[in-house]
Amino acid sequence: MNSAQLKTPYFLIDENKLIENLEKAKQLKTLSGVKLVLALKCFSTWGVFDIIKPYLDGTTSSGPFEVKLGHEKFGGETHAYSVGYSEDDVREVADICDKMIFNSQSQLTAYRHLVEGKASLGLRLNPGVSYAGQDLANPARKFSRLGVHADKIDPEVFASLNGVMFHMNCENKDVDAFVALLDAISDKFGSYLDALEWVSLGGGVFFTWPGYDIEKLAAALKAFGERHDVQLYLEPGEAIITQTTDLVVTVVDIVENDMKTAIVDSATEAHRLDTLIYNEPASIGEASDNGEHTYVIGSCSCLAGDQFCVANFDEPLKIGQRLHILDSAGYTMVKLNWFNGLRMPSVYCKRSGGDIQLLNEFDYQDFKRTLSQWSVH
Ligand SMILES: Cc1ncc(COP(=O)(O)O)c(C=O)c1O
Repeated sequence: MNSAQLKTPYFLIDENKLIENLEKAKQLKTLSGVKLVLALKCFSTWGVFDIIKPYLDGTTSSGPFEVKLGHEKFGGETHAYSVGYSEDDVREVADICDKMIFNSQSQLTAYRHLVEGKASLGLRLNPGVSYAGQDLANPARKFSRLGVHADKIDPEVFASLNGVMFHMNCENKDVDAFVALLDAISDKFGSYLDALEWVSLGGGVFFTWPGYDIEKLAAALKAFGERHDVQLYLEPGEAIITQTTDLVVTVVDIVENDMKTAIVDSATEAHRLDTLIYNEPASIGEASDNGEHTYVIGSCSCLAGDQFCVANFDEPLKIGQRLHILDSAGYTMVKLNWFNGLRMPSVYCKRSGGDIQLLNEFDYQDFKRTLSQWSVH
């Protein structure tokens, strides 16, 4: 299959780029002894799990269906975590997970009897410190509901707990800042950790970022694991899938109202939601910083402010031209929706040998099915 023949919009996952990230993950594991479980909330396109599986130890989840998917399609260790479990959820996932991590002591007390003897028991703790660019994504924000805070811990709970999970980073590219968080955790929770078998330090550590000092991170993790005599885990999502995937779109119109806007056959609100939620403009592969032709890359949704970015180009854009919206996998493909009845992007993988393989495609029936299956009668 030749990419020029593919109908836009579509996602194209590049296996070679994915492997580059996975090789760094492997290096981190080898140097530190840490185990890595893929955060399915970030990326769960299971069609490429066979590429990822040899490098990672399993998956972690944020809801019951992710637990099922991890167990069924990835294998290895399946960690089950949810901010709030119903009893039905706990019963359903207890049989298929290896570790069950509760978000609160009340959930742990209510449901531990359903898990004991089946899975290792864990509790999420909130370290009260974090590294996150935006308050919306800061697990230690004021009044945070994510994990038990140090002053609320009931020491009795630890008597029969196997492990704990902390998650306090979001796209942290600064290894020293991460090491400072590790030290804070050791100081605050060290005596509890010493009695456990495992500790997960969550996700958000951007160890695949160009120039990231993986050796320094590995040394700090190794020392932390040895100090508390625990098996350490990280739960990377974005670090695994970053810079691997383009959302390819076509310019369908060009309009002008003081600025030129190229309208493309996709929308951030439907196909790249975090652009909108976090107000973080996308990058376009064809753009050039010093280009003389400036365009808003506008969505074809009805939302007035729905745009991918403003970008400069060396040549004027043309209707029918394709654009590559870079880095469009993490927290993107898992959030697709049918707003405005737009065409859902297909999903392809470009294999190492150059072959392009179809992983998913959608049609009108898929749209209709998500809205109703039955009419009133
Ligand atoms: C508990 C937990 N683990 C792991 C992750 C994955 O984080 P990232 O994709 O930034 O590595 C998240 C992200 O929100 C999370 O909440």
